[in-house]
Amino acid sequence: MAFRWKNDLTHADVTPENAWLNRRQILAGAAGLGIGAIAGPVMASDGLEPNTLEEITSYNNFYEFGTDKGDPKRYAGALTTEPWSIEIDGMVDRPGTYDVTEIMEQMTIEERIYRFRCVEAWSMVIPWNGFELADLLALAGVQDRARYVAFETLYRPDEMRGQRFPIIEWPYVEGLRMDEALHPLTIMATGIYGKPLPNQNGAPIRVVVPWKYGFKSIKSVVKITLTDDEPPASWNRLQPREYGFYSNVNPNVDHPRWSQATERKIGGGLFSKRIPTLMFNGYEEEVARLYEGMDLTRYF
Ligand code: MTE
Repeated sequence: MAFRWKNDLTHADVTPENAWLNRRQILAGAAGLGIGAIAGPVMASDGLEPNTLEEITSYNNFYEFGTDKGDPKRYAGALTTEPWSIEIDGMVDRPGTYDVTEIMEQMTIEERIYRFRCVEAWSMVIPWNGFELADLLALAGVQDRARYVAFETLYRPDEMRGQRFPIIEWPYVEGLRMDEALHPLTIMATGIYGKPLPNQNGAPIRVVVPWKYGFKSIKSVVKITLTDDEPPASWNRLQPREYGFYSNVNPNVDHPRWSQATERKIGGGLFSKRIPTLMFNGYEEEVARLYEGMDLTRYF
């Protein structure tokens, strides 16, 4: 599925272009790495610079491994990511257990350089590799009566040490409305910078919804259920006044305890200037129509 969106992000400034192209070519021929073929050239553009791989992989939220930003990098190595499968059930024509390697063989892996905005008001720019969630759902066959998609992360306290503590109700769960899930910006990410997804970023496969706060982008997914009922979402369940089901990035709707008008881009140094947060995280043109007529202060 070829979808072109207004891409104003580039990594030409952080990775010398030749090195990057070589790596892409090598990876495209390296089936053993399990990331499939990489499609399309990187779109050149002006604007923001992606974060470095080091930044993207060392400042993380992945409470299954602890609540400190460095815990995922420190402890996620314990997670076994192979073999890995996703159970897809509910309102689909072909429910079943889908092996991730087999899924990826059927998908064209694209690069998507997206803004990533955490509800905590920090942000990054991340060059993901992945495929559209819509393509995965098409494998299972979406039934007409399905209105929402529910996601679940792995529960494996032996390997995910944070799950031994009741930080949230495990497993981590999230959900999207069907039109959000089928939107071409919504992807299943399987890599970053052309390398397989690091464990701390949600290996081997995670959701990325770039116009919503980061917690909607659930990591290490093992279950997807299509339903006609709004599914539970971990942070919403824990603190519904602070974290709505929709959680679209919105500079005009503050978190009860802090402003969402600006953000701090990771990597700019401690004293870097905050930058304005953009409506729908900069993807307004692509997604605003999904919410036409909705009161976004009520459905936050
Ligand atoms: N998914 C799971 N399973 N567990 C988590 O704790 N944290 C969320 C989201 N997905 C989280 C998760 C939050 S709060 C953010 S900001 C992003 O993952 C962080 O993604 P990153 O570490 O790849 O930047």
